[in-house]
Amino acid sequence: MSAPGKSYDPVQVTPLEADQVDRMRATALAAIAAATDLDVLHEVQREHAGDRSPLALANREIGALPPQAKADAGKRVGGARKTIKDALAARQVELERERDEGILAAEVVDVTLPWDRAPRGARHPLTTLMERISDVFVGMGYEIAEGPEAETEWHVFDALNTPPHHPARSTMDTFFVESADSGVVLRPHTSSLQIRAMLERDLPLYVVCPGRVYRTDELDATHTPVFHQVEALAVDKGLSMAHLRGTLDTFAHAMFGPGVRTRLRPHHFQFTEPSAEMDLLCFVCRGRSLEPGGEPCRTCSSEGWIEWGGCGMVNPRVLRAVGIDPDLWSGFAFGMGIERTLMFRHGVEDMRDMVEGDVRFTLPFGMES
Ligand code: DAH
Repeated sequence: MSAPGKSYDPVQVTPLEADQVDRMRATALAAIAAATDLDVLHEVQREHAGDRSPLALANREIGALPPQAKADAGKRVGGARKTIKDALAARQVELERERDEGILAAEVVDVTLPWDRAPRGARHPLTTLMERISDVFVGMGYEIAEGPEAETEWHVFDALNTPPHHPARSTMDTFFVESADSGVVLRPHTSSLQIRAMLERDLPLYVVCPGRVYRTDELDATHTPVFHQVEALAVDKGLSMAHLRGTLDTFAHAMFGPGVRTRLRPHHFQFTEPSAEMDLLCFVCRGRSLEPGGEPCRTCSSEGWIEWGGCGMVNPRVLRAVGIDPDLWSGFAFGMGIERTLMFRHGVEDMRDMVEGDVRFTLPFGMES
């Protein structure tokens, strides 16, 4: 190629014509925009900005042009190549960002997902409730007492003013431990802990005893042969029914909320005198089933009230059986079924749900401690 000069005749150099350059630029820009990943973009770069790209080849022709034409063509080609270079760089940044985002999205670990291979399960609501009940009494200054589930007849009956052959013994369908004359039974109530507490502790005493008890009942919606009670006993100077009533109301409010209504109904227990049963106003009909024309209520059998547990002032004969002088000391006691309490508190309708061990029953109660 000869050196350019004013004398050099302009030649038609097709690749340098304005519309050709525009077309090359447009084709390159379209290819850049259409590149969907970095590999494709690399290819596009080689094709449209590489040494053998149409614009690079066109660029080589510039030297052969006369000065004015050379300057024009130089501007056009140079401008087009710069536009393409910028577009490549911008697209490169974009595609790198997309690639990085893709990697981040693909490798993301959701640390908040539950670990389903080792489900945590739930605590049994009876366990939780027993702890709650204990808390209520600890808050009132009571101590928690425990005792054996296989218990002597003396602790379960005799010391509680229920001598052998007394008809009250047969009302508690007791499991006897072999041999029949071993004198050991599976405790049918937690009241035996009253005896142990009074024998083992100093006076005055305030104890609460949540625990498991056994009776020869068939498993059905309202009975189970293994269930739980909570027993409370206070022995002090000058205790009266008023203290009993106040304590029971505090307990009832802690269990069922301040709106719950209670009543004491005269009853008979061997180990308390006087004795009463404590009722709660029916949660469902609120006593309306008793009113003239009131809808019948299944929950309370239209009695308006539901029995919650037994209570009374400790019988002086029980105090004497454990060596406490009833002229100096008096006491009150009460005992409630924990399954019943759970049923009232949470609307559980079938006691079998509590013993079958199905997590679908326990899970909604969660891990509350
Ligand atoms: N032990 C009784 C029962 O299982 C309940 C009971 C009644 C407990 C009166 C008491 C009480 O402490 O004073 O049916």
